[in-house]
Amino acid sequence: LLIVFSSSRQLLFFASFALFFAFFALRFFNWNDPMEKVTLESKFAAFSEHWSPKIVGELNGQHVKLVKFVGEFVWHHHDHEDEMFLVHRGQFRMELRERHIELNAGDFLIVPRGVEHRPVAESEVEVILFEPAGTLNTGNVTSDRTVAEPTRL
Ligand code: NI
Repeated sequence: LLIVFSSSRQLLFFASFALFFAFFALRFFNWNDPMEKVTLESKFAAFSEHWSPKIVGELNGQHVKLVKFVGEFVWHHHDHEDEMFLVHRGQFRMELRERHIELNAGDFLIVPRGVEHRPVAESEVEVILFEPAGTLNTGNVTSDRTVAEPTRL
């Protein structure tokens, strides 16, 4: 080493180069690579509570959430957020003041901001939600169903 690095400046140069290389190599083979696939089956299998959305992804200020529910939710609306409901398994009815919309696995519905809605499921349903980060599940209403800070899975 002493032969290769005749001066401490060279050693410093090499050391910093090695450090940078190691850093980028680690970035490249990162175990916490943010680009990781999400398998809905295993995510849905990881929880059993109803009406308690779990965050499983985030993009462009939007959250991707998973929720299981059965029974009736509370009537509510969201002043500033449009909400998307995509059925993964089962079926539910989105009640609007004017009409009801039946949703089956593979169907999705976007409820525009300001529109009052109430999801109702006869039996357990698994739903994927897309909505801006920070969207409260009960919108303008506070109830025992309100989940202020959804957990991440
Ligand atoms: Ni809502």
